[in-house]
Amino acid sequence: MTVTIVGSQLGDEGKGGIVDVYGDAVDVVVRYQGGDNAGHTVVYEGDEYKLSLVPSGAVRGKVGVLGNGCVVNPATLFEELDALADRGLSPDVRIAERAHAILPYHRVLDGLEEDVKSDDDLAAGTTGRGIGPTYEDKAGRRGIRIGDLLAPATLRDRLEYVVPQKRALVEDVYDLEIGEDVDGTAFDADDLFETYRAFGERIAAEDMAVNCGAFLNRRLEAGDEVMFEGAQGTSIDIDHGIYPYVTSSNPTAGGAAVGSGVGPTVVGGGEVIGIIKSYLSRVGTGPLPTELGSVAGQTPGAEDDGTVDGDAADEDTDLATYIRDEGGEYGTVTGRPRRVGWLDMPMLRHATNTNGFTGLAVNHLDVLAGLETVAVGHAYRLDGETLLTMPPTTERWGDCEAELRRFDGWPEAEWGAIAEAGYEALPENARAYLEYISAELDTPIYAVGVGPGREETIVVESPF
Ligand code: GDP
Ligand code: IMO
Ligand code: MG
Repeated sequence: MTVTIVGSQLGDEGKGGIVDVYGDAVDVVVRYQGGDNAGHTVVYEGDEYKLSLVPSGAVRGKVGVLGNGCVVNPATLFEELDALADRGLSPDVRIAERAHAILPYHRVLDGLEEDVKSDDDLAAGTTGRGIGPTYEDKAGRRGIRIGDLLAPATLRDRLEYVVPQKRALVEDVYDLEIGEDVDGTAFDADDLFETYRAFGERIAAEDMAVNCGAFLNRRLEAGDEVMFEGAQGTSIDIDHGIYPYVTSSNPTAGGAAVGSGVGPTVVGGGEVIGIIKSYLSRVGTGPLPTELGSVAGQTPGAEDDGTVDGDAADEDTDLATYIRDEGGEYGTVTGRPRRVGWLDMPMLRHATNTNGFTGLAVNHLDVLAGLETVAVGHAYRLDGETLLTMPPTTERWGDCEAELRRFDGWPEAEWGAIAEAGYEALPENARAYLEYISAELDTPIYAVGVGPGREETIVVESPF
């Protein structure tokens, strides 16, 4: 069977940790979208692993697959694999031949476009990994796929077609000089050919290339358990998220079929687990109705001291600082402080509709411990009306005012001991909070995270 893990919010919900918790029964872990913009944390035997391309299960000896829906930077992949090898691990990772390769010019162009957009507050605050430009080339039918790296003549042809276009973009549209304003090797077809052909040779030598759909169907027929590890989250999905402040792929559950080459009935025949952080965190720009305080450079109108539009710092700023520090809310990939806010229920209702969750994992309950009151945005007020789900345009979403519902807080506790004792050992007020979420989304709670480690996760229900 299959289990699909999907972020319900804005990324960084603790997906890697849940993949790990349910990972024992799994044979194959598949990434179906995104690339090295993801940062997934797994704590294994006291050691922390931050993975951006290697699927989270691979640190425990599972087969990891990067599906056709991914965009793969081979340089990052091999760096990550080599770093894991230095730590004594030898993950078995396969790459779909249909996956697209990120090239150095994609990263350069990602930065250039973000710079231009920042003048109009339209920058998404990307991770700068070249994700958007690579998906653009995929849709524009000028991309280079992993299979092309294994066929030098094809690679050469593709580069000779595309590199002059990228050079013209830099020189004629951005009015910059290659080799002067931007790195020359990123736009040198011969150089790129040599580097990427060498990546192809390593992929071939290590027998990593697969026909992803065929590979997975074979494994499923043989009785293997397959887990789809979503990256990012529903509200930064290119179709269902807060466009244009989104990533360029489909983290939502439907993406698991398209991005891996199994049928939607295969994904839908299994379980789809929504991963929820008990509050909100956001790396990037755009509106956020339940935001507490602000982060300069990300919250629209924020000043360097954490205030917005000159308003004095207040109780919300203190709450934000408390949650940010308790939760370690600094980006895994970029180290940027994350924006934080209360749980946004309309966002979660939207995620439940879009993904068809069969179960929920609610993480970071420990982070909110010690607060006297915990609030959630239960609904929005917009033009005098109450909305229970997100409006489809981001501008209208930005006009929404959160209607808060308050819960009595729960105290700090010995979370390891509570996790061992099980769900009933959670503080009563924490259980009331979880039961509210479950009832509103009409979906059972499968797991509760009370700390970063596997031993700090309460498993209520196992999907396998
Ligand atoms: P992902 O991108 O969804 O896999 O999440 P990240 O790894 O980017 O961010 C989640 C962070 O929270 C990591 O540092 C995890 O170790 C940590 N984490 C996950 N679950 C919990 C939890 O229940 N409580 C606490 N305190 N930390 C958690
Ligand atoms: P994981 O898998 C949180 C955000 C970026 C930016 C927008 C577009 O760790 O949950 P991109 O580089 O993808 O073009 O950036 O998406 N973003 C993430 N935010 N977690 C992630 O991944 C993210 N991946 C991208 O901050 O706003
Ligand atoms: Mg992350």
